[in-house]
Amino acid sequence: MHGNFGRIWNSWLLWIGCCLLFLVIQEASAQPKIVLVTGASKGIGLETVKLLAEDSARYEVHGTFRQGPPPAINNVTMHQVDLSDEKAISEFLTQFDNDVGRPVSVLVNNAGMAVYGPLEILDPNDIAYQIRVNLIAPLLLMRHFIPAMREHLEGCIINVSSVAGMVGPPFMDVYAASKFGLEGASAALYGYVGKLSDQAKIRCHLIQPGFTKTGFKDGCKLNKPAVDSLITLWGGFEKVLTRGLDNGQDPRDVALKIKAVIEDESGELPLRIQTNETDTQTYRGRGCDITGKSLVAPKDPYQYYRCND
Ligand SMILES: NC(=O)c1ccc[n+]([C@@H]2O[C@H](COP(=O)([O-])OP(=O)(O)OC[C@H]3O[C@@H](n4cnc5c(N)ncnc54)[C@H](OP(=O)(O)O)[C@@H]3O)[C@@H](O)[C@H]2O)c1
Repeated sequence: MHGNFGRIWNSWLLWIGCCLLFLVIQEASAQPKIVLVTGASKGIGLETVKLLAEDSARYEVHGTFRQGPPPAINNVTMHQVDLSDEKAISEFLTQFDNDVGRPVSVLVNNAGMAVYGPLEILDPNDIAYQIRVNLIAPLLLMRHFIPAMREHLEGCIINVSSVAGMVGPPFMDVYAASKFGLEGASAALYGYVGKLSDQAKIRCHLIQPGFTKTGFKDGCKLNKPAVDSLITLWGGFEKVLTRGLDNGQDPRDVALKIKAVIEDESGELPLRIQTNETDTQTYRGRGCDITGKSLVAPKDPYQYYRCND
């Protein structure tokens, strides 16, 4: 009796030992996750790659820039691509996959710019350019990386939108259109990318900064209206924009929010995430759906499309 108990006890110890050894080996051989952040040459993107690169054991960080010499950041590999150019995006993706050789675990679609002004006077080329950078490029990047995420059962997509993805401020006509478009695509993906198999842990979230103190205005185009009735409104807009960007949130805080979303394991994060409590309260007060719950299909995507006939 005593001998039997000893044997069972020993085999339990052996089993537990093997499990621990397996976990230790797995941990030691775990490679850092591949992270790709677009628009990493300055502003929110730059702060995000710097922050993630501090944890090089956990993240292998890649960023994109468009022009000029790439900023040299410890533990960050920079890739040049003009995200307004579909052909350049396609060449970049092929080169990136060849060079990196492992699937992207985290994609942060951050690069963006704005063409402000009343729609009626905007140059059609500027309209198309902004939609290409802010909307088409993120769609193409997600299209490219999602299949590998699904194959490896893991992925986190963060699309940097704006509070102008929930409201349409005057003169942000096309900027809001680009961000609303990004929000729509993200809502659709939120509803199903992580639900295609029980094991797949794939997520898609929107980060919605308000005014953030970056050089964003330098990359913007401002189209002042010539119509008298709009000039007063334009004056107000310029003041609010300049004041807002000069006194905005620290981009490092937005980067911290992005990192927190990447590292969240609750599986409970909503689609929409603002970057400070003031914005959350302000837009809740305006009746906005600050979590994005109303945008997303019911929990079970299969239920959503169930046909009864
Ligand atoms: N700042 C704000 O108040 C604010 C508020 C809400 C949302 N956002 C959003 O936050 C994101 C980051 O903005 P930010 O404030 O950090 O602006 P930023 O400092 O101007 O940085 C923008 C980044 O996007 C890149 N980019 C712009 N056009 C590009 C193109 N055609 N191809 C490739 N890259 C391009 C820039 O690269 P280059 O330097 O090489 O041009 C730069 O790295 C944007 O999506 C923006 O819409 C910003």
